[in-house]
Amino acid sequence: MSRRSWRLAALLTASLAVTTVGPAGVARADAPVTNRASLKSDLCYQIATDRFFDGNTGNNNPAKSPGLYDASKSNWKLYWGGDFAGIQQKLDYLQGLGVTSIWISPHVDNIDVAATYGGVPNAGYHGYWTRDFKKTEEHFGTLAEFDALIAAAHSRGIKVIMDWAPNHTSPADESNSGFAENGRLYDNGTLMGGLTGDTNGYFHHNGGITDYNDRYQSQYKNLADLADLNQQHPTIDSYLKTSADYWMNRGVDGVRVDAVKHMTSGWQRSMTDRFLTNKDSFLFGEWYLGSKTDPLYDDNVRFANESGISVLDFYLNISMRETFGSNVSMHNLDAAISKTATDYRYPENLVTFVDNHDMSRFLTLNNNQNRLHQALAFMMTVRGTPCVYYGTEQYLHNNTAGGGDPYNRPMMPGFNTGTTAYQMINKLSTLRQNQPALSWGTHQSRWINNDVYVYERRYFNDVVLTAINKGGSAVSLTGLNTALPAGTYTDQLTGLMGAGGITVGSGTGGNNPVTPFSLGAGQVGVWSYKAAEPSAPTVGSVGPTLTRPGHKITVEGRGFGATGTVKVNGVNATTVSWSPNRVVATVPAGVTAGLRPVTVTTSGGTSNAYQVQVVGGAQIPVKFTVNNASPTGWGDNIYLSGSIHELGNWSSSKSVAIGPMLAPNYPNWNTVVSLPACSTVQFKFLKITSGGAVTWENGANKSYTVPCSGTGSSTTNWQY
Ligand code: NOJ
Ligand code: NOJ
Ligand code: CA
Repeated sequence: MSRRSWRLAALLTASLAVTTVGPAGVARADAPVTNRASLKSDLCYQIATDRFFDGNTGNNNPAKSPGLYDASKSNWKLYWGGDFAGIQQKLDYLQGLGVTSIWISPHVDNIDVAATYGGVPNAGYHGYWTRDFKKTEEHFGTLAEFDALIAAAHSRGIKVIMDWAPNHTSPADESNSGFAENGRLYDNGTLMGGLTGDTNGYFHHNGGITDYNDRYQSQYKNLADLADLNQQHPTIDSYLKTSADYWMNRGVDGVRVDAVKHMTSGWQRSMTDRFLTNKDSFLFGEWYLGSKTDPLYDDNVRFANESGISVLDFYLNISMRETFGSNVSMHNLDAAISKTATDYRYPENLVTFVDNHDMSRFLTLNNNQNRLHQALAFMMTVRGTPCVYYGTEQYLHNNTAGGGDPYNRPMMPGFNTGTTAYQMINKLSTLRQNQPALSWGTHQSRWINNDVYVYERRYFNDVVLTAINKGGSAVSLTGLNTALPAGTYTDQLTGLMGAGGITVGSGTGGNNPVTPFSLGAGQVGVWSYKAAEPSAPTVGSVGPTLTRPGHKITVEGRGFGATGTVKVNGVNATTVSWSPNRVVATVPAGVTAGLRPVTVTTSGGTSNAYQVQVVGGAQIPVKFTVNNASPTGWGDNIYLSGSIHELGNWSSSKSVAIGPMLAPNYPNWNTVVSLPACSTVQFKFLKITSGGAVTWENGANKSYTVPCSGTGSSTTNWQY
């Protein structure tokens, strides 16, 4: 909606201004790296802390958890020495690469005694086997070393993103005592409980997931054999949220949430609201998609659109690996960009990646460095927040057993700043930080065949044109049009990928002819135009996208000048800070819950609108159960709908009502939804058949008063 209106405005404005503004770049007044609430202008770098750099050999074999370190680096499932101090010592290298945010492995205390699989000891070197969410992992360093890493990163304008895995603790099995830690959870050193003998109900006890496409199993059974936490238990809810506060208060800037497919959306929205109450920041989740036709793809879209947590862009990841790794047509990428732009509310917040710690590295897939360069150039010039997996710039890969986990996590081989990949990433990161077209712009295909893709990103008058030829022969680009104003443009990659400059003539309607040129085999070129600061305001980004009265939002764009007003749904917000490209404001009281427009008004005019989701108050996770529900056939589902935004405003549409609910004990159904603390809501359950027919339960509306803290639950019978 608003996205479309500013796209239209961009087209109109660009066509008017195109001949009157010269191609001189204007630097933005303040560096975007200081905006925690959005990573759209950032380059993120994913670090497996244990495998990056050993900066302190004193913590390699700690007394607390001896024997989990392998100095020979032959057991890939033990610690190899990397730590917080090591990352800190390599910040110059990362800064030179153009990194503005680092996503580090979960840094919290992991199991002290190895889990043994097939006689091989496995440590939590990856960080996903938590023991205590309130302490640092001793192999990675002390709390002081963690603090020092954050301070050093911040002094370079680099944000620190923590990996947060509240779905589970560690390997455990009620019928197998071989797991020494038994999934035990500690609160800052004090034992809370383990999986066996869990009289408090801190964990789910439903066995392991056998069908990853089953919503109930995915959320309520163990992911592999990881002890599954019961987030609705008030003690666990409070413990996880208090732990989150603790790390945010130590300076963490953003959060990657592990395994979001395996927890309820309702609890996760309440967790997000808690994170955002503490600090405005950006959250993105790992919703693993097994393929582009994953049966839960739509659930993943809805999660990204409504939970306040964006997602890692598995759909584009699969598409990039197909096109650059396995020689599928460029049309495949174009289709992926179009589909995701339609499905996701905030496609520019999707976190893009070529590979990560859960899949083979790109060079294992296709041992062709030039193809890797093409994939990276694509990722850094299309919509989204690009994230580079550590070592990619050193061409790191190990092909053992197909190169998947754990062979995709080798030790960083060195820190050579001279590789083509390092140089290219640096140039594109610098461009991203200064070019709104890359952070916030629209996407338009300008020239395409199986091997060549030329596309344009555009934010009002700012334009970036990228051309990639993955084929084995040169292609003559004739009939190519662009919104770049008439003039000559040098390649932003300075010829690193073989391309030269281009010449653009004058045309009409934003279609200026590019003088035909030949794009050689494997070449990539990037040409950029940044307009002078406009006199009227335009908004490119607002974050966080989940907010409520009293919370801060950061509005980014151009032409904000020295002063003005931010409005949320037409209500004036209090300004916290104002600069020409970024305003921080507080969402005013009186903004009602719903999808609401944010605008900037200055003496130059009023901007386009950017929609954010406003919720009605602090979010409390409430589990609703309806027993003995209306008989359902195959493919029919029960949903919940009610009187407020968080309950779908009485909608009976599958995409707005809460659900589909889960039926582990058919005909009883349940779902978790987050609702405003202390509020009283009206609700009812409804059946939606596979064909879309809607049947509401009979009788009066039901009423529920949400607790003012903790978690809530409501159990009623279907009203016949
Ligand atoms: C997804 C993580 O990325 C993966 O590495 C981990 O093993 C599982 N979640 C469980 O935490
Ligand atoms: C595959 C499952 O489908 C996914 O949901 C899960 O996160 C990963 N395995 C864990 O590695
Ligand atoms: Ca070490």
